[in-house]
Amino acid sequence: MSDSIALRTIRPSVLYFGTPVLLIATRNADGSANLTPMSSAWALADRVVLGLAGGGQGLANLEREGECTLNVAGPDAWRAVEALAPTTGCDPVPSWKAGYRYAADKFALAGLTPRPSEIVAPPRVAECPLQMEARVVEIRRRALPAWREAAGGFAIVETEVLRVHAHADMTLAGSDHVDPQRFRPLLYVFRHYVGGGPSLGRTFKAEV
Ligand SMILES: Cc1cc2nc3c(=O)[nH]c(=O)nc-3n(C[C@H](O)[C@H](O)[C@H](O)COP(=O)(O)O)c2cc1C
Repeated sequence: MSDSIALRTIRPSVLYFGTPVLLIATRNADGSANLTPMSSAWALADRVVLGLAGGGQGLANLEREGECTLNVAGPDAWRAVEALAPTTGCDPVPSWKAGYRYAADKFALAGLTPRPSEIVAPPRVAECPLQMEARVVEIRRRALPAWREAAGGFAIVETEVLRVHAHADMTLAGSDHVDPQRFRPLLYVFRHYVGGGPSLGRTFKAEV
């Protein structure tokens, strides 16, 4: 059967095969908040690892302040995410960031609501169904000659999640479980926004 599936060798311009969109809130040097939309993130145990291009404001803030909130967007937030997409908190905008403009208040620009965190300084994004307060454990800089070298390659940022907040209606009452029937992350798939479909089933390790 698998031998009969037609295949092509392709060279896609990006490898964004579909990961949840996060809004990283960080604190700028003047104490104001920045929001960085991103999708190169994965979780293991209490760690969330982020892939960030060098030279962005969010990365500079993470290196200086060492903390952030990681806000997982839901499907209905895609227009707010896209409003943030052509912006940066870098002022002036670096020359390699062609097509971007500076935005001082990205919460206002996207119509999102900052909510004070309990442990870290950067605020959370009230509209996001899952909000994690985190601290930076390690930042590893990587050079990538063929990609954004002008920006300083990219960085692998390991964070430790300190506290998790979830919209109550996305949780199973009386437990610490996120309800997989209700929680849907916004996915970034080859530069398009995709909302998750219904849950298909559970793994043998699911507790509920
Ligand atoms: C949906 C989406 C996903 C993105 N994913 C990433 C990512 O994983 N890593 C990254 O460095 N930039 C990513 N970007 C681009 C950054 O958001 C962009 O460089 C932005 O200007 C960074 O803002 P800052 O300079 O204020 O931190 C993504 C943008 C969008 C809209």
